[in-house]
Amino acid sequence: MTEHSHRPIGVAVLGMGNVGAEVVRILLQNADDLQARVGAPIEIRGIAVADLGKARACATSLLTDDPAALVKRPDVDIVVELIGGIDVPRTLIASALEHGKSVVTANKALLADYTGELATLAADAKVDLYFEASVAGAIPVIRPLMQSLAGDTVQRVAGIVNGTTNFILSAMDADGEDYDVVLAEAGRLGYAEADPTADVEGYDAAAKAAILASIAFHSRVTAGDVHREGISSITAADLASAATLDCTIKLLSICERIVDSAGRQRISARVYPALVPLTHPLASVNGAFNAVVVEAENAGRLMFYGQGAGGAPTASAVLGDLVMAARNKVHGGRGPLESTYASLPIAPMGDVNTRYYVSMKVADRPGVLATVAGEFSARNVSIATVRQEGAEENARLIVVTHRAPDSALSETVDALTELDSVLSVSSVLRLEGTDD
Ligand code: NDP
Ligand code: HSE
Repeated sequence: MTEHSHRPIGVAVLGMGNVGAEVVRILLQNADDLQARVGAPIEIRGIAVADLGKARACATSLLTDDPAALVKRPDVDIVVELIGGIDVPRTLIASALEHGKSVVTANKALLADYTGELATLAADAKVDLYFEASVAGAIPVIRPLMQSLAGDTVQRVAGIVNGTTNFILSAMDADGEDYDVVLAEAGRLGYAEADPTADVEGYDAAAKAAILASIAFHSRVTAGDVHREGISSITAADLASAATLDCTIKLLSICERIVDSAGRQRISARVYPALVPLTHPLASVNGAFNAVVVEAENAGRLMFYGQGAGGAPTASAVLGDLVMAARNKVHGGRGPLESTYASLPIAPMGDVNTRYYVSMKVADRPGVLATVAGEFSARNVSIATVRQEGAEENARLIVVTHRAPDSALSETVDALTELDSVLSVSSVLRLEGTDD
């Protein structure tokens, strides 16, 4: 067969929700261009959904509620999984791979824990497993890490990888919007996960951090290896305090190669809301936009920015993978395999150097500042700035530290809560994006 008369490439789409519906739309609307780019027509063989009764923008004859049968069909070459969750897609993807189908998925929750298992099945079957859409929506970041930077040594991958929380924090900061109202809006716009707890408690960002760290550091990192804190306790008062320090608050995912004094390399993977100076490029990433900054030994600093959630942007990344997988079916060849040769261990959060911002209600009397400062000094934590706001019963101390081991900082906060002169520690956040 010549390149231009290659048989059609059959595709099964699992899920026709926010992302799946956009994937189907693009496949149907751009069929001619996609055929020219792949060298063969891409034909949808079936679309699996949960509810056959819902109105859909596709031929009814394509719909099925039996994805298990669809992924095994002999006329299917590539399975696109856009159902979400873990157990159902895990079984379906495994079955697809075992039946020789290449797989494209956006499912970070699944990949964070099961990339190893699925990549082994893909390798055994000599097919592709692509997942560009699983991290940062439309932004190409998996492929640059796996391919463009394959010859470099990545030191750090950090940024904003959850659109829902960024949408919420941006709206709370800019417009003083109420947390619950903005969260509901993120759901309506198709940014939030089926269970938005995954977004606001940092699970989604942690899954993405696990995927990024695995690829960047050639090691297997799972969601449980990632230190995780969400944004549900961030208040309007925190954002107002951040503003007084010329900062904003962002939910950051940070994956770092850290080297201890003995030269031992370890991985730190962590997700938490942090103060970010307004002068830092991540501070101006707003709404559902994401940004990922990669630092590599030779390439230096690279920044990737774009729409991190939503049906069409995510579908763009899915289509990119689909075209790659289809080209491989037509022309031969395969995408890169999982690389875990380095097997770097995970550093506990306590060993990681961070900076803290601590806001506390204090008794307004002489000696309180010295007592508070003494707790920091006792744990070898250096204070960068300290400020008092209010007076008498409204007195608050705001301390920003220099970098210190996270364990020393959290022990200091524990000790502060025991002081008579500290009425309450109202907020503790880390500060990122500074050099000191
Ligand atoms: P939705 O909840 O909007 O869509 C899920 C789809 O799966 C629906 O069409 C649903 O059917 C179908 N479905 C559910 N269970 C089954 C089942 N047992 N068998 C067959 N079909 C089933 O999810 P999204 O489109 O938002 O997300 C899909 C995936 O993409 C998830 O893994 C998500 O994490 C990921 N993702 C999402 C992004 C986004 O911005 N939304 C961005 C990046 C990744 P029905 O329509 O009948 O209910
Ligand atoms: N719920 C995710 C987010 C979707 O808000 O970023 C994109 O992965």
